[in-house]
Amino acid sequence: MSAATEQVTALEDAHASGVYGMRPLVLERGQGARAWDTDGREYIDLMAAQGALNVGHCHPKVVAAVEEQLRRMTLCPPAVYSPQRAQLVERLCALAGMRRVFLSNSGTEANEAALKFARVSTGRTKVVAAKRGFHGRSMGSLSTTWDPKYRKPFEPLIPGVEHVTYDDLEALDAAVGDGTAAVILEVVQGEGGVHPASEACLRGAQALCRERGALLILDEVQTGFGRTGRLFAFQRYGLEPDLVSLAKSLGGGLPMGATLIGERVAALPSSSHGSTFGGNPLACAAALASLDAIEGEGLCERAERLGAEARATIAGWGLPVVKDVRGLGLMIGVELRKRVTPALKGLQERGVLALPAGNQVLRLLPPLVIEEDELAQALGQVHACLEAL
Ligand SMILES: Cc1ncc(COP(=O)(O)O)c(C=O)c1O
Repeated sequence: MSAATEQVTALEDAHASGVYGMRPLVLERGQGARAWDTDGREYIDLMAAQGALNVGHCHPKVVAAVEEQLRRMTLCPPAVYSPQRAQLVERLCALAGMRRVFLSNSGTEANEAALKFARVSTGRTKVVAAKRGFHGRSMGSLSTTWDPKYRKPFEPLIPGVEHVTYDDLEALDAAVGDGTAAVILEVVQGEGGVHPASEACLRGAQALCRERGALLILDEVQTGFGRTGRLFAFQRYGLEPDLVSLAKSLGGGLPMGATLIGERVAALPSSSHGSTFGGNPLACAAALASLDAIEGEGLCERAERLGAEARATIAGWGLPVVKDVRGLGLMIGVELRKRVTPALKGLQERGVLALPAGNQVLRLLPPLVIEEDELAQALGQVHACLEAL
């Protein structure tokens, strides 16, 4: 480890909040699906900043748009009109088939807004969420996140949230009632282990919500922007959610969140919700450039094809340590019969960065711009590493 690397880790270890389980890695530069550490080591990055870099590190279109916007204007109050914001909200509505957009800065904020819209719109307070679901860490969103390790230290959370088995329509049927404001679901659970929901359950959830006067919130924070082979995962099944939460890859690498609002959702009282940085022109310019890249470079189709090939390759290895290979598009989960931490460490030593999803699932979220030979090289290392476990 170089002196520069040691200095960075020492400073963070001493002064950063300590809420993260840190990896011994200092990243300082990225381009496309590659990243470099402070010792000049190159990695193929299948973390993509927790799925926030679908267009890769420093996409040239995003860099150019941000550079231009940076010189023009970075911040404009949300109560003043902005050309970049106007373009972005119109484009998101057209792409998702929704009516309005509330812009914020993160996934948890996107869900907070969705929950507020659901309460006001229905006049109800109960929320049905899923076991293994992850919706963020601020108090409202955290109340719908399932894993006790995130929730327990901060209880009591907001009341009235029931967690039911994921992808189980009967369980939803039993839970959604007169007092239910919303059902909140991920189309593919990410943090919970990369579990896609069945079309039947998602359609059933939508029908139940309509029938019982509740709103359907789909959390596409991780699945959005081409990750699963469609711009939004719900579009694969022709769903019409009432609210959709977005963040991660929305901003092309800049922080941004969005809550898409459908026809059945009532407006919030004026000034009852807001965000100082939400919809700032810099993030909007980055998001517009990122959408240009996703559409112009056919990244959804690319994710669909490369993801199916990668999952078939991994399953084809027939490795005893692999219990299951699942996912949609380039959102790939490899469930192991052993703990995933040694695999992640081994991969990093072999120049590949990957993520866990729980204790036994290796999660691969390559940037959708990854070159085919880069992906093949990375999968070669995954194979070598899993074989050696
Ligand atoms: C599905 C989902 N929702 C919400 C969030 C929270 O997003 P953020 O960390 O931007 O608040 C995440 C983050 O991993 C997520 O995967």
